[in-house]
Amino acid sequence: MTDIYAQPESLSGPAPVTLGTLRRLKKNRQKIVCLTAYDASFASVLDEAGVDLVLVGDSLGMVIQGHASTIPVTVDHMVYHTQLVARGLKRAWLVADLPFLSYCDPQTALLNAGRLLREGGAHMVKLEGNASQATIVETLAGQGIPVCAHLGLRPQSQYKIGGFRVAGRSEAEAARMIEDAKRLEASGADLLLLECVPAPLAARITEAAHVPVIGIGAGPSVDGQILVLYDILGLGSSVRPRFAETFLSDGRSIQGAVAAYAEAVRSGSYPRPEHGYE
Ligand code: KIV
Repeated sequence: MTDIYAQPESLSGPAPVTLGTLRRLKKNRQKIVCLTAYDASFASVLDEAGVDLVLVGDSLGMVIQGHASTIPVTVDHMVYHTQLVARGLKRAWLVADLPFLSYCDPQTALLNAGRLLREGGAHMVKLEGNASQATIVETLAGQGIPVCAHLGLRPQSQYKIGGFRVAGRSEAEAARMIEDAKRLEASGADLLLLECVPAPLAARITEAAHVPVIGIGAGPSVDGQILVLYDILGLGSSVRPRFAETFLSDGRSIQGAVAAYAEAVRSGSYPRPEHGYE
């Protein structure tokens, strides 16, 4: 689809990333580079390094606010941090998380997603879901709100699912996730995100999906990779998931670490087999 308002790149700087850009990257088998950010300064570092998608994740509850989970994060927190990040971006596609209990029915989801787009400046919202969120996705998509559906390990459900654990290891769980992904796409999700999913299962979901699939701890076959910014900078908890590679080494600057991550994702040198699960 051609954007009739698009400026020639030389006049306006790099063209902003759109859903069309992300779909084209998937089609051309070029990896999509994604990272989280929570403020304007880091957002502009990511944007200048050519990160395609920036997520204001509810991980901010842990890495910014110091909680042990994402559950205390509110819509007001998300709107505030999304506003900060939006001010630092010129090119990247901006996704904001709908936090815990902010999308438990279609009306509530519409109200809160509307705030993230209208007040926060997000281009897309992300929600943690399985097929039971299909109606919510359909409602948001029906009102023109792009949705990313987050499957696999869903931190907002950590108490229900038994903590931070790899999802989809049993055959039954894997079959359910494949069906959930199809249902969410059919309901209007424009992007899928798989967290802590065995690499072969993530590869099957990616192959079947018509929309781009982003992975974190989901192996190399997904269409793009995302990590929590503070993880690539080696900040925070000493207990780190195996996919949380630090790129701030060899005397690199923060800008250098982000550029090294982007290059590693695009070239396929990240993730390596030891970053994933079977
Ligand atoms: O909240 C977050 O940062 C996320 C990423 C881990 C994908 O959902």
